[in-house]
Amino acid sequence: MPSTSPPARASGWPGVRLHVVTGKGGTGKTTVAAALALALAGRGARVLLAEVEDRQGISQAFDVPPLPPTEVPIVSYDHGGQVVGLAVDAKAALLEYLQLFYKLGRAGGVLERFGAIDFATTIAPGVRDVLLIGRVYEASRRRVDSKHHRHSDTTPLAYDAIVLDAPPTGRIGRFLTVGSEVAGLARMGPIRAQGDSVNELLTSPATRIHVVTLLEEMPVQETIDAVAELRGLGMAMGAIVVNQARLADGEDFAGVDLVELVHALTDDLPTVGIEAKPALVSALVEQVRDHATREDLELTHLQALEQLDLPIVTVPALLDGIDPDALREIAGLLTEQGMTVRVTAGSR
Ligand SMILES: Nc1ncnc2c1ncn2[C@@H]1O[C@H](COP(=O)(O)OP(=O)(O)O)[C@@H](O)[C@H]1O
Ligand SMILES: [Mg+2]
Repeated sequence: MPSTSPPARASGWPGVRLHVVTGKGGTGKTTVAAALALALAGRGARVLLAEVEDRQGISQAFDVPPLPPTEVPIVSYDHGGQVVGLAVDAKAALLEYLQLFYKLGRAGGVLERFGAIDFATTIAPGVRDVLLIGRVYEASRRRVDSKHHRHSDTTPLAYDAIVLDAPPTGRIGRFLTVGSEVAGLARMGPIRAQGDSVNELLTSPATRIHVVTLLEEMPVQETIDAVAELRGLGMAMGAIVVNQARLADGEDFAGVDLVELVHALTDDLPTVGIEAKPALVSALVEQVRDHATREDLELTHLQALEQLDLPIVTVPALLDGIDPDALREIAGLLTEQGMTVRVTAGSR
């Protein structure tokens, strides 16, 4: 494989309004999306953090009660930065959509009663995805469409940025192209318009797709495949976020001479009052060897990712798991590595 120069550092993604976070299931999409939203808010942005997978991952990460299908402030900073959470729900999105476009008002109540049937299982998956992404699209266009700037308590907020905790890599291409699919089905009317606009937003320079991965074979392969697929669809990629990397844990055992290590341990353990029993020495050496082997493997995976020519951002495994403190820590790491820009009130 040709070796490339080291990946460029992320530049804060100026001009990007929609950050889509995908990755193989379980790699840390929700964690990274939540931390990115927090990082952006920490720099002054009003951020909508949206999830579409019915998992309540956001509320778990932030340790707040389950989110309703409406926008709920989760974190607010004195300087104006804010994270607003939204668990997008297809049925709620459909009702809002009908009210918005057909001014249905309470006639939507008919559909409300349709809730007796299980909406989620009766609706076709493609239509469901259009509703989910359409809801995110609706939130993203508020700033440009002045008719939404009614100045009352019920005025929906306009956002500086939206972070979407998106479906996993295996479904992301399909999910992000439902707009064109629907636009292709409906020749005109609001559905066609919505499909076209969603597609336009997703392929515009205001959208970036970040892929979260572990330095393991399957997620790395899925990352490489997803980047190829998304690029083929004309979508702009953001960063590769390497989560739970041992390489990032600050311990470097690569290249340690194991024979020398045996001698060193045999000499040094007694000086700290520990008997250098062979079983103990070999157990310690074994651990170092394990760690070094894993580091080696991770390095191979990292090199494969570097071929993608995208900024690579690393997040270590946090031993105490993910809670609001851990999110703040990861947010800090994301900012340090160029995932955010400062937002000033004037730029809104
Ligand atoms: N950097 C990290 N350090 C420690 N635990 C993590 C880290 N990132 C994610 N986790 C944990 O790994 C699990 C999967 O993460 P999650 O963000 O829910 O993944 P996904 O949304 O991709 O399924 C969760 O239990 C989460 O708390
Ligand atoms: Mg998740």
